[in-house]
Amino acid sequence: MEMGFYFYFVCCFLIFFSKASTAIDTISVSESLTDGMSLVSSGGSFALGFFSPDPFSKNRYLGIWYHNDPNKTVVWVANRMNPINDSTGVLKIEESSGRAVLQLQNKTSVWSTTNSTATVQNPVLQLLDSGNLVVRDGKDSNPEHYIWQSFDYPSDTMLPGMKIGIDLRTGFERRLSAWKNWDDPSPGDLTYGVELEAAPEMVLRKGLKKYALSGLWIHNGFSGIRNVRSNPIYDYDFVWNENEVYYTFSLKNKSRMSRVVLNQTESLRTRYAWNPETQTWEEYSKRPSDDCDIYERCGPNGNCDNNKLPVCQCLTGFKPKWPERWKSSDYSTGCIHSKPLNCQRGDGFIKVRRVKSPDITNLRVNKAMNLKECKAECSRNCSCMAYTNLDFTRDGGSGCAMWFGNLIDIKQFQSGSDGMDLHIRVSASETELMEKSEAITLATVVAALLGCLLVVCYILRTRRKLKVEAEDTNANDKENRDENEDLELAVFEFETITKATSNFSFRNKLGQGGFGPVYKGTLTNGQEIAVKRLSKSSGQGVNEFKNEVKLIAKLQHRNLVRLLGCCIHGDERMLVYEYMPNRSLDYFIFDQTRREVLTWSKRFQIISGIARGLLYLHQDSRTFGGDQIEDITSRIVGTYGYMAPEYAIDGLFSVKSDVFSFGIVLLEVISGRKNRGFYHANRSGNLIEHTWMLWAEGNPSDIVDDFLVETAIQIGSLLISLLCLLNTFIADEPGSDTEEGFQLALSSKQCGET
Ligand SMILES: *[C@@H]1O[C@H](CO)[C@@H](O)[C@H](O)[C@H]1NC(C)=O
Ligand SMILES: *[C@@H]1O[C@H](CO)[C@@H](O)[C@H](O)[C@H]1NC(C)=O
Ligand SMILES: *[C@@H]1O[C@H](CO)[C@@H](O)[C@H](O)[C@H]1NC(C)=O
Ligand SMILES: *[C@@H]1O[C@H](CO)[C@@H](O)[C@H](O)[C@H]1NC(C)=O
Ligand SMILES: *[C@@H]1O[C@H](CO)[C@@H](O)[C@H](O)[C@H]1NC(C)=O
Ligand SMILES: *[C@@H]1O[C@H](CO)[C@@H](O)[C@H](O)[C@H]1NC(C)=O
Ligand SMILES: *[C@@H]1O[C@H](CO)[C@@H](O)[C@H](O)[C@H]1NC(C)=O
Repeated sequence: MEMGFYFYFVCCFLIFFSKASTAIDTISVSESLTDGMSLVSSGGSFALGFFSPDPFSKNRYLGIWYHNDPNKTVVWVANRMNPINDSTGVLKIEESSGRAVLQLQNKTSVWSTTNSTATVQNPVLQLLDSGNLVVRDGKDSNPEHYIWQSFDYPSDTMLPGMKIGIDLRTGFERRLSAWKNWDDPSPGDLTYGVELEAAPEMVLRKGLKKYALSGLWIHNGFSGIRNVRSNPIYDYDFVWNENEVYYTFSLKNKSRMSRVVLNQTESLRTRYAWNPETQTWEEYSKRPSDDCDIYERCGPNGNCDNNKLPVCQCLTGFKPKWPERWKSSDYSTGCIHSKPLNCQRGDGFIKVRRVKSPDITNLRVNKAMNLKECKAECSRNCSCMAYTNLDFTRDGGSGCAMWFGNLIDIKQFQSGSDGMDLHIRVSASETELMEKSEAITLATVVAALLGCLLVVCYILRTRRKLKVEAEDTNANDKENRDENEDLELAVFEFETITKATSNFSFRNKLGQGGFGPVYKGTLTNGQEIAVKRLSKSSGQGVNEFKNEVKLIAKLQHRNLVRLLGCCIHGDERMLVYEYMPNRSLDYFIFDQTRREVLTWSKRFQIISGIARGLLYLHQDSRTFGGDQIEDITSRIVGTYGYMAPEYAIDGLFSVKSDVFSFGIVLLEVISGRKNRGFYHANRSGNLIEHTWMLWAEGNPSDIVDDFLVETAIQIGSLLISLLCLLNTFIADEPGSDTEEGFQLALSSKQCGET
């Protein structure tokens, strides 16, 4: 009888409550919230109630979700670790203590807000339209005076207005922690918050281990995150003063809601933005966003660069600690100084630009010092490995940050406003090398690059051979007659080559092209050589190969790498070139620091040098007949990123394919970026597509390397001289097709003037 009455009462109450619920955002002492009911914030943005993440599970949680989201995306959970087994949960507010308490039917409490220190006369629980659930004194004249608020105890979601960080007066920390699983809101081991050593940064941790860092806050962004100030969705701020340090964000437009969520299964911190048109959540950004965001990805003193393959590089002035491991993609052991430091005699500093700040462990900060004093201070202390100028005061002041010991977690950025400049301690001789730009003689830089052109020439020749063989059955006789000339060509013993290259050891490998790996070697007479080990699949006969080599050896030009000879071992073919001690162009052009050696005039000389070399191959050497303008090959060989699409896809080969490759090299030299592995935040595609888009947008000069721009080059004259060069070059090509819009709209008069 009594039971029946009870149910009747509950049902009436429920009906009453659910009808009224749209308007109710507050419960006071005489009221309670039972399973099935909900509070809705005044503006209708959020709702508070009971839910089960897994509809087939009995577990009930008290939580907050977006009211207008059909999927009821949950942003906060009260009893994360104590689910209720049935639907008897009741949320009420205690008059005596002023706490909100979640109780089971038998009055056991499964969750409650913390006790209030002050006496509360009329405690109320209110769900604000920001998604913040607060306990406040209903009699308090200040409605923003909260006794307790859910924003202080975030779950896995950061909402606009929430402060993630530390109250430095009390030590109280607000930190996100992921759900353990999609159906289990209890805290997983992925957490996100502000960590403060000598300076603060945002840290994503997996358990106790650091997993992804934001880098230090500089000016108005984090040094480890691409600058996102101008995004259409949110504004953000990072506050660090004597009272508190926190990160917060706000919405630019209320109709584009946004939230940050930790995802345990994906190990990600993801930002979502609401699309009001499609009424769905869209992933807006995520961290780690790429390989280089992973903590210590490239080991101590490594520099992670997404524009390179492999992404792990050593900082300028450093070399792999264990080259063998490094080459087998184990980067954990990191890098050491390539030339030992000598603090007593005096070391130098290299400025590395646009990098994420190293891990704040072992950081020391002096807010009063300027850059000059900072350098002096760092030079004095032999364990100071890097310094930089930091804007700690947020109003254009200065400050000094110094790192002691290994530099960890550095990442390289490409574009202007990302990252920060870091001055890194290196041996004095290293800085001298950097300054002595004439050390890199133009001829050798160009020569190394032209190695690839020889390869092109090799293909052309092969192609021609195949054609001739098909048409002329007497070809074999001719080749037999040529055999006497073999003596002219240096044919190296296989043993000589293996000895010179330490049996093709990893350590000797210089690089990898489309034709196979290249090794450095030293002959017994001391001469240094570069050995190109051709891929085995060619199936070419010995005589055929020797003829190729003889032909290439005949090509002599100051801008071409000289072929010394070849080596034949079983079905293996090798080409032996002279070694270029000053490395290749990419060693300089794609390195943030080394590329500063290459001023515009130097780059222009390089481009002209390549053009002359190519012209020689195509015309002056007369190695290939006039019929050699277009051909089709069934075997595609070349270096990816430089092959013309019609060649790479259809095997259609012509002199134009070389012009294409030349164009890529030209773009790379101007922009300082790799065509392959090109990365731009808002753009897909490669360097060519990016350039084309800039051209279409009317901003072609944006492609120019920031360094060149900074050195006050007149971009106008730069572009004109380049276009003129290209014009001359194309016009000179046999069979060039001006109707296809190849010819650039520049009069010879314009070019004559530059
Ligand atoms: C929930 O149910 C399980 C199994 O029915 C039981 O073992 C457990 O004690 C219950 N827990 C609570 C808090 O009611
Ligand atoms: C209330 O119920 C829960 C689970 O059903 C149980 O664990 C707890 O001991 C009970 N408390 C009391 C006071 O009976
Ligand atoms: C909070 O208040 C309750 C009830 O007044 C009391 O039982 C509990 O011990 C208090 N907790 C703390 C941490 O002070
Ligand atoms: C906010 O976004 C909505 C929908 O996208 C748009 O109609 C409105 O103009 C925007 N308001 C402002 C102030 O930008
Ligand atoms: C985590 O990622 C998975 C897979 O993308 C997704 O299904 C799940 O909803 C995400 N969890 C959260 C809390 O966003
Ligand atoms: C709701 O979930 C479904 C299935 O996961 C998804 O396709 C849909 O986009 C979601 N809706 C919103 C508003 O996020
Ligand atoms: C160098 O700096 C470190 C770290 O602050 C400090 O422990 C050490 O005493 C300093 N050494 C000298 C010689 O000043």
